[in-house]
Amino acid sequence: MTAPDPPPASAAGGSAQRPAGPVLGIESSCDETAAAVLLDGRVLSSVVASQHALHAQYRGVVPEIASRAHAERIEPVIAQALGQAGLTPWDLTAVAVASRPGLIGSLLVGVSAAKAIAWATGARFLPVDHLRAHLAATELAPVGQPPPPPPPTPALGLVVSGGHTSMSILDAPDAPMRPIGSTRDDAAGEAYDKLAAILGLPYPGGPVVDRLAAAGDPARFDLPVARLGPGSLDFSFSGLKTAALYLHRRLAATGPIDHQTLADLCAGFQRAAVGALLLKLSRALDQHPACVSVLIGGGVACNSALRAGAADLARQRRLTLRVPPPEFCLDNAAMIAAAGAHALRAPPTHDDLAASASPTAPRTA
Ligand code: KG4
Ligand code: ZN
Repeated sequence: MTAPDPPPASAAGGSAQRPAGPVLGIESSCDETAAAVLLDGRVLSSVVASQHALHAQYRGVVPEIASRAHAERIEPVIAQALGQAGLTPWDLTAVAVASRPGLIGSLLVGVSAAKAIAWATGARFLPVDHLRAHLAATELAPVGQPPPPPPPTPALGLVVSGGHTSMSILDAPDAPMRPIGSTRDDAAGEAYDKLAAILGLPYPGGPVVDRLAAAGDPARFDLPVARLGPGSLDFSFSGLKTAALYLHRRLAATGPIDHQTLADLCAGFQRAAVGALLLKLSRALDQHPACVSVLIGGGVACNSALRAGAADLARQRRLTLRVPPPEFCLDNAAMIAAAGAHALRAPPTHDDLAASASPTAPRTA
């Protein structure tokens, strides 16, 4: 990072009280190194350095490669986000960072950078739950645009990403999550990525399977939707993945698979995967009738069928649906800053800087 303006003498090492101002968000929990600046709910800048090219040959994230790449990129990414916002570190009110859940070596890179900036400038240090931040992304508009009003609550939240699939209730826009269901095996995005690997398609698989599915016939292949008992709010995608694997083997046994058949297989998979997500959203709304809105975050929230199906569901039930702009569905740091802005309203504790990274999520976040 280029040398910032000199600090005010009273700032270094302290927790100086500043008026609410810019929040720097930092994200390094998996394979994106990201930094963003948020001011009054408006995203001033958002920089994401993706590591997809580094992990593509392994068809998944290699933790050791990820943490090394974060260490190389974190400083220029933060400098770029601050530069695009026209700020120096000394202008920041707070530094929010994803501190859990995720790859521990990767998390520690972001947490260490955030602590260093907070300690040096006196900005608040705000450790943030990555999954809660995916839901906070529903409060964001694209860079430079005014934010939408806070989502009506209580809200049903669905986080669907490459590492996580879970549902929770938010009793207020800045409340912690009350978990009500999660995946018992694969995450939804992980299932898309594994299907892509089976079909020989590039990583990450979600976007390419989604595109192929749009040209396919979802009724040609009947793939299973995991219901898991009449009242269950949990998810399971491993059976679908295995069914797709055996179907692909059967089709490949008779010769090369033509493009239309590939598209039909993707469409069948998408119908089952998104069908399971929409089924569980419906069940959750039946069991939690006080919910007035549905919030969906995480990379799979980019999915065209999920976005369309959730819009239908919300219309039928007269609920507000909030899905972030696609750039804030995928891992990004604006969502970390948004979740940090919630915590900023709470009084600082003397040991803020003592908080560390954790690979797992707590029971509530
Ligand atoms: O939230 P995210 O960037 O990272 C994690 O926290 O995991 O999500 C990445 C995941 C990948 O599994 C990717 O395949 C999936 O989101 N994804 C999609 C789509 N776009 C990204 N899955 C289905 N349809 C999409 N259009
Ligand atoms: Zn994520």
